[in-house]
Amino acid sequence: MKKFLVVCSISVFSLVNTGVLKAEELSLGSSSPVVPQDKNLGIGPVKKLVLGPIDKKMVEEGKTLYNAQCIVCHDMDQRKIGPAMKNITKQRTPEYLMNLLLNSAQMLKEDPTMKALLKEYNNMPMPDPGFNQAKARAVVEYLRSMAK
Ligand code: HEC
Repeated sequence: MKKFLVVCSISVFSLVNTGVLKAEELSLGSSSPVVPQDKNLGIGPVKKLVLGPIDKKMVEEGKTLYNAQCIVCHDMDQRKIGPAMKNITKQRTPEYLMNLLLNSAQMLKEDPTMKALLKEYNNMPMPDPGFNQAKARAVVEYLRSMAK
């Protein structure tokens, strides 16, 4: 595993160096507050999501969806039936969040982060919200707007 990681970082480094990839596409470094601590992308249809400035219209739509489908289990500030959501966009990648909302059953079975959380939350599986990409994206935008 270590060897694999070393090989990966070397190849990413050389790709950047040779100009094949632009550095800003890679979330290198941790100085920016939008770079999540955890690099896990989750499992599902979203392989890459580049976020722009916060979109107010999406935030409003996401807030409505969140209040209808998430708030019963997720408080912003503290643990409820599920984990607190306020700073979730700082902890997890947008790809992970999208994939969880679009593909929760498989994530619960196979994603290491979700498997650990499931144990921590007494094997209470998070229900599939039945979102399409636009709805999932709107909820992620709302969560971004709540991060402090
Ligand atoms: C019936 C309760 C319930 C509902 C409704 C629910 N969740 Fe969850 N959620 C959980 C639980 C419990 C977990 C912890 C993992 C597990 O046990 O499945 C979780 C985990 C998560 C995580 C992962 C947190 C992390 O640290 O990686 C995110 C993100 C999340 N939920 C977002 C949402 C959003 C957004 C909605 C609304 C669309 C929602 N959840 C609806 C119960 C729920």
